[in-house]
Amino acid sequence: MKVTIVGAGNVGSSCAEYILIKEIVDEIVLLDIKDGFAEGKALDLTQTTSTLGFKSKVIGVTNDYKSSSNSDIVVITSGIPRKPGMTREELIGINAGIVKSVSENLLMYSPDAIIIVVSNPMDTMTYLVNKSFDISKNRVIGMGGILDSSRFKTYISLATNFSQHDIDAMVIGGHGDTTMIPLTSISKCDNKLLSEIVSNDTLQKISSDTMVGGATLTKLLGTSAWYAPGASVSYLVNAIVNDTKEILPCSVYLEGEYNSEDLCIGVPVIIGKNGFEEVVNLDINKNEIEMFEKSVKAVKQTNLALDGLI
Ligand code: NAI
Ligand code: 2OP
Repeated sequence: MKVTIVGAGNVGSSCAEYILIKEIVDEIVLLDIKDGFAEGKALDLTQTTSTLGFKSKVIGVTNDYKSSSNSDIVVITSGIPRKPGMTREELIGINAGIVKSVSENLLMYSPDAIIIVVSNPMDTMTYLVNKSFDISKNRVIGMGGILDSSRFKTYISLATNFSQHDIDAMVIGGHGDTTMIPLTSISKCDNKLLSEIVSNDTLQKISSDTMVGGATLTKLLGTSAWYAPGASVSYLVNAIVNDTKEILPCSVYLEGEYNSEDLCIGVPVIIGKNGFEEVVNLDINKNEIEMFEKSVKAVKQTNLALDGLI
């Protein structure tokens, strides 16, 4: 199996590192526009082979899409990240052009690849890829919900002392500070409902901390986070490569599911070797349904900025 990651920056290279360590694929191509940058990252990663003990290979290239030929999966992390005080939506002006041209180049050399979109605003970038090219919707997957769910589990664990491994929790909706929906009504710790373990105030705080999870890190780091984002992408790559059929929250093109259509937004989907196989309906409460409707409106509003590009 071969994966190409475009954008050898913080998220792209962190994702490459986890894919290597876990030996998820045989070969990774890191591609960046910055001269020599991906080559440098690939060489540095290659020099961890003997100490970390993996067999997979990684090469780095500058804008050479031919090297990405016949990739099974391509990951798009190219573009600018947000700085403190910026929303993900503010990145659209620069990132939309980058994501469109990068996808075009990738599809030229890997027409059958599954495309994972990471660049922000991720839901809108996933929609852009869906609308710009004649490819099956099942092969275009935006990653944001896996990361947001891992942040949700972190805050639940901090509030309850349950191990993250015993927590079942998911975030759906848009990958934005005000559009994501931590599903507090169905979250469980060791099979007990979270709402029966913590007070309403704590539940609210876990939810709001999760929603600004990315912004909190951007403020601390001066740029957006990369370990958990890279790990989340590698988790999705693994689910595809190993055909795990796991239910993961991903941004996909909806055609009536969750009463929504003509947008990409985070919903639970079954992931397998062909991409996302189907959207899974969850038993969420009235309040969460209303929040989802609001999120749909907000993501659709952001999508309007693609006018002229799709
Ligand atoms: P970064 O600045 O560290 O890396 C971006 C890389 O893209 C740079 O190396 C740059 O040279 C490269 N690049 C720019 N234009 C390119 C082009 N046309 N072709 C090839 N490479 C190009 O940024 P970072 O932190 O890695 O973030 C990348 C993107 O991922 C940002 O848009 C960020 O907002 C987004 N992100 C999304 C997350 C999600 O959950 N969906 C989580 C974290 C970040
Ligand atoms: C994050 O959630 C900014 O999307 C990026 O860390």
